[in-house]
Amino acid sequence: MDYGLKGRSALVTGGSHGIGLATARQLAAEGCNIAICSRSEARLRSAIAELEAYGVRTLAVPADLLESSAADHVMDAVEREWGEIQILINNVGGGGRWGKEIVEETELRIWSEVYEKNAMAAVRFTRRALVLMRQAKWGRVVTITSIFGGNEGGGRPWFTMAKAAETALMKSLSQMPYLVRDGITFNCVAPGGIHIPGTGFDDERDRDPEGFARMVDLEYPLGRLGTADEVAAVVAFLCSQQAGLVNGANITVDGGQSRGL
Ligand SMILES: NC(=O)c1ccc[n+]([C@@H]2O[C@H](COP(=O)([O-])OP(=O)(O)OC[C@H]3O[C@@H](n4cnc5c(N)ncnc54)[C@H](OP(=O)(O)O)[C@@H]3O)[C@@H](O)[C@H]2O)c1
Repeated sequence: MDYGLKGRSALVTGGSHGIGLATARQLAAEGCNIAICSRSEARLRSAIAELEAYGVRTLAVPADLLESSAADHVMDAVEREWGEIQILINNVGGGGRWGKEIVEETELRIWSEVYEKNAMAAVRFTRRALVLMRQAKWGRVVTITSIFGGNEGGGRPWFTMAKAAETALMKSLSQMPYLVRDGITFNCVAPGGIHIPGTGFDDERDRDPEGFARMVDLEYPLGRLGTADEVAAVVAFLCSQQAGLVNGANITVDGGQSRGL
């Protein structure tokens, strides 16, 4: 199916790795120009080399989104280079393993950094991108949340709280006629456990292979974690022309892991 995205311009935050890179690839395959931002310049370079192979325009902006000025720095670069953006994927986030099991022993700094990296980053990018989307009279904002803070409790509280705030942000914006009638939709994609090579799940498996296998068998109906491509496929559909009626949705992509109705 042709998603009708050829020539659109997309910004994927954290598009150099994991779910962000998988999404950037799928949007590039649809003919979108792709801007990405993240901290490591080496990762950015390697991602851009991959994305360029699709024959689209690319832009990489190094930025640490724990710094409050970073989103503006990225958006300034996108405006300067392209002057437009119609698709925003708020992907940078995480912190689900930060802090300690014992809540009182977890510093307040962790709560605010996790909120900053997830919710405030989404606020900062969305606020700037809306101006450009309204000019284009078309836009797609997709925020990568989590089953935690969507239809599911659990998870470390600072993470669940920050993801719930992102879900609320998308829902609130999706109810604003002046935005939606300019052709902009707002949705969340809520992954369950997704295996990203070289990140937290690999560490857990390496520490205790048998315990990890038991946990996967018990908690994941499919008997496996998800993949970044499986999440990205849903994100790409939400960006499509065909998804115009999908607005304010929070779509779980977890292979049946979450238990909420
Ligand atoms: N994987 C899962 O199981 C899972 C489950 C539920 C939800 N999610 C959500 O999915 C999203 C992506 O997660 P992922 O697992 O794909 O992560 P990942 O593989 O670790 O990739 C994260 C991306 O964000 C960038 N990044 C990290 N910290 C950053 C910072 N402070 N400033 C700018 N860029 C930063 C990374 O590049 P640099 O390190 O070079 O900055 C990388 O490009 C997150 O919002 C996460 O909460 C993931």
